Amino acid sequence: MSKLVYLDHAATSYPKPPTVMAAVSDCMKYCGGNPGRGSHPLAMGAASEIYSCREMAAEMFGAEPDRVIFTLNTTHALNLAIKGLAGRGKQGSGGFHVLCSDMEHNAVYRPLYRLAVEGIIDLEVFDTFPAAPVRTEDLILRSLTSRIRPDTRMVVCSHASNICSAILPIRRIGELCRRRGIHLVVDAAQSAGVYELDVDSMGITALCLPGHKGLMGPQGTGMLILGKGAALDTLMEGGNGVDSLRGEMSEDAPERYEAGTLQTPAIAGLRAGLEFVESAGIEAIREHERRLGAKLRDGLLEIPKVTVYAPHREGGVVLFSVEGYTSEEVGRILDGEGICVRAGFHCSALGHNTLQTPADGAVRGSLGWSSRERDVEGMLRVVRKL
Ligand code: ALA
Repeated sequence: MSKLVYLDHAATSYPKPPTVMAAVSDCMKYCGGNPGRGSHPLAMGAASEIYSCREMAAEMFGAEPDRVIFTLNTTHALNLAIKGLAGRGKQGSGGFHVLCSDMEHNAVYRPLYRLAVEGIIDLEVFDTFPAAPVRTEDLILRSLTSRIRPDTRMVVCSHASNICSAILPIRRIGELCRRRGIHLVVDAAQSAGVYELDVDSMGITALCLPGHKGLMGPQGTGMLILGKGAALDTLMEGGNGVDSLRGEMSEDAPERYEAGTLQTPAIAGLRAGLEFVESAGIEAIREHERRLGAKLRDGLLEIPKVTVYAPHREGGVVLFSVEGYTSEEVGRILDGEGICVRAGFHCSALGHNTLQTPADGAVRGSLGWSSRERDVEGMLRVVRKL
């Protein structure tokens, strides 16, 4: 295991900090009750683990603890936000316009696609020009603004792409949406823990993020952080430890959206992940990924027959292909050398289409806080041999 070079942080961060692993195990040993279901010490201990993570996430993302909803991952958070805001199942909710960017992955695109097929929304895509050498915020804002209609009710977009290092000007998109009375759902799958995010000052209605990527928590953790005053339809109904005699879900967040037993040990691990990120510093993490990303990108650009997609974008996600090899072949060769990357389409047909990658997709190397210079050098050595 120690020989592996892990360059797949966009999929999930690895290895997790030792404090995260210890927190999971301690929670299972000492707080093994069901949070919110009982007043005995083991249930109360579990509830306190949950609350403490909620508090810490609220502080990091600029909300109050009751606006932090735990989910299983970003996809779960996005489904809850998108379908909850669309008012799925409510009479007369149909037929409004939704915009998403041309770089979305399936966590955004598939729930929207389904709503579009069901006739609940009219879906349109706006351009973000990730491959353009000069790509100003004004250009992106103009492209979005030109597609807004009187019936546009929601904009859904990723803060940072999962296939290259392009980011969107969320604060300005948030200002625009706020002025026009449009809900903004942000997918922070790649940016949480790497870029500063503040749900209210950025005009975000629903911030959807993973616990297991930049926040260093275990898989099985994600969060939906609601903007002030935001309310959704539920995606799932069931017991949540409150108002047990009623048939309907209670109105109050976060319990309204958290039916069933939460993944307490994973959430305890996520809390330790948040502490880790806070002590390392978001800016230091971003700079580390930027520096190593530049080294990987520059190294690949020097190799003949290698194409780097969106080479002007600075960050830790680098997408490339090698002439004469399919992306699967390059991925397999790197796997064989113990270098972990992801090849193919990265669940992002829209993004690959926008970047015009080959018909079999491309190879993604993605850096994280634990990546080292020698990891990048090792990967470049293998690609050079090809
Ligand atoms: N969305 C994750 C990725 O990009 C899984 O690999």
